Amino acid sequence: MRRQVQLFILLLVVCDAFGQVSYSVPEEMAKGTLVGNIAQDLGLDVKRLKLGNARVYSGDNREYVELNAERGALLIRERIDREALCGDTTPCAVHFQIVLENPMEFYSVTVEITDINDNPPTFEKNEIKFIISESAVVGAKFDLERAVDLDVGTNTLQSYVLKPSDNFMLKLHNQADGTKNVEMVLQKPLDREKNDFIALVLTAVDGGEPQMSGTMQIFISVLDVNDNAPVFTQQVYKGTVSENATKGTTVTFVRASDADHGLNGKITYSITNTLDDVRHMFEINDENGEVKLIGRLDYEKKRHFQINVRARDNGGLTDSCKVIVDVVDINDNEPTIKIMSKSTIISESAKPNTVVTMINIQDPDSDEYGKVQCFISDNIPFVLKSTSNNFYTLVTDSDLDRERASEYNITVTCSDEGVPSLSSSVTLTLHISDINDNAPVFERSSYEAYIVENNTPSLSIFTVKATDADWNQNARVSYILEDSSLNGVPVSSYVSISADSGVIHAVRSFDYEQIKDFHFRVKAQDGGSPPLSSNVTVKIMIQDQNDNPPQVLYPVQTGGSLVAEMVPRSADVGYLVTKVVAVDVDSGQNAWLSYKLQKATDRALFEVGLQNGEIRTIRQVTDKDAVKQRLTVIVEDNGQPSRSSYSHC
Ligand SMILES: *[C@@H]1O[C@H](CO)[C@@H](O)[C@H](O)[C@H]1NC(C)=O
Ligand SMILES: *[C@@H]1O[C@H](CO)[C@@H](O)[C@H](O)[C@H]1NC(C)=O
Repeated sequence: MRRQVQLFILLLVVCDAFGQVSYSVPEEMAKGTLVGNIAQDLGLDVKRLKLGNARVYSGDNREYVELNAERGALLIRERIDREALCGDTTPCAVHFQIVLENPMEFYSVTVEITDINDNPPTFEKNEIKFIISESAVVGAKFDLERAVDLDVGTNTLQSYVLKPSDNFMLKLHNQADGTKNVEMVLQKPLDREKNDFIALVLTAVDGGEPQMSGTMQIFISVLDVNDNAPVFTQQVYKGTVSENATKGTTVTFVRASDADHGLNGKITYSITNTLDDVRHMFEINDENGEVKLIGRLDYEKKRHFQINVRARDNGGLTDSCKVIVDVVDINDNEPTIKIMSKSTIISESAKPNTVVTMINIQDPDSDEYGKVQCFISDNIPFVLKSTSNNFYTLVTDSDLDRERASEYNITVTCSDEGVPSLSSSVTLTLHISDINDNAPVFERSSYEAYIVENNTPSLSIFTVKATDADWNQNARVSYILEDSSLNGVPVSSYVSISADSGVIHAVRSFDYEQIKDFHFRVKAQDGGSPPLSSNVTVKIMIQDQNDNPPQVLYPVQTGGSLVAEMVPRSADVGYLVTKVVAVDVDSGQNAWLSYKLQKATDRALFEVGLQNGEIRTIRQVTDKDAVKQRLTVIVEDNGQPSRSSYSHC
């Protein structure tokens, strides 16, 4: 540093008896500045200096001062920097000799160099940086760098100032070497969340006039400590989610903030429920707080969830909140039909209103989705009655008839009122059991049968048949011959009937000529208890066989004697001589008789009426004709084979 000093004061010149002289001059004087009037101070005149060739001798040292012999004065030859010359050593002086010749003599000269305030205090660095935790306690000390001022005495460093002084104050410690240690002491706690960076200026001042100073910037980064817990934006969050929501559905977001910095402010979310099933149902994104569904909801099992969520910063501070999740019902359950009790079989005699089945309906859905209506198909003799909420009975509502319908498949269908509606159905098979309410019925209202006479006894004549609409034993038909009598003889001596098969057998051989027909009743009876029966009339007609030959009633054939008929000689042609009368006890063709002339004395004289058996002349009787004429007439029935008799005249 240079200073222009316009005025200066020459200090007192001291000559000592041994040819020594001292001066004092401030540093930094300009070249040519007068240091002292050496001629006068040494008591020499200028001539002696000139003649003696006076000069300055500095030896190996640098020559800061020169001699002006003309003027007998010492002048500054070269600018003197006290700090360069002496550092902090005081006092600081330049020593040299004035040497003369003729005669040779020398004088020692000491020039003291006094300090001027030409150096400000300086710091080695313009700035220093600190990183201080906000948790630093009051009284914590931070070493600062000292400043240096090359000047000495009052011109050198005197004190320090630190600004601003909100958080820190300065403390100086005197060192053994007289310097001062500078410390910055925390007097008010730091708070990173309010102020994370502080800039201070440390100023060092000296005592010179005018005063000089140097500054250094102090930058403090406030280091975060985890002094703030996370805070949720809400204590309770709400979410709704449909029970059929797919896995991965977002339920809600929770959010917490943390005033701290970096890791201390980094929040991790987690679900803290332990005992319930929440953690199987929901997960939280630990970074962004998204609550997601990961399980399958079922409104019918659980309608609300409370998720406890914790936010935690890296330093371990936490906050918690609740997420209330409401599950929204959808119509996902069809009604369940539960058979509480059922008959699989019911008697056809059951009265109307007989309970067949009791049913309970369950639909776990809520409200309309769980309201159920049940119905059965029409046109069956059953109705579904609702007894109380969700309970139904299936009852008969008219008479049953096993013979008309022996089995019912009754489908009960139940539907809820959701849109779309869900329904389910169940089919009940109900068998109708038999009672003996039907009598056997013959296939015909009456029977007629024919049997040819002369049958072999035990011949089966024919079969009657009755059926019974009932079932099993109630339908097992037995045939019974009803007692009656024929001409005073029990009918059972004519016919018998097989109880199982209804086959009617003859018991005897019939003779048409004795009995042509007869009738009796057959009863058909079922195996019910009590049994039911019906009866039918059976008429048996006996058919004729040609078992009788014609019998000649006239002329009466007695013991071989012939019957004589008289014919007058005058009888005309066609005269009725006689008539053969025959009968046949058979009937029909078997009794249809024809007459033929078999033998005759004179075949040309008589003829026999084929139908009526009349014997007539067919020519005039003459005298030539024999008195006795013999005729044999054969009477023949028309049976197959025919039977015949002879009549002789
Ligand atoms: C009832 O259902 C059963 C089984 O499907 C079937 O065999 C039977 O024929 C049905 N009965 C009626 C009367 O429809
Ligand atoms: C036979 O049936 C009729 C009705 O068909 C009935 O009136 C009569 O009493 C029955 N006779 C016997 C003996 O059962």
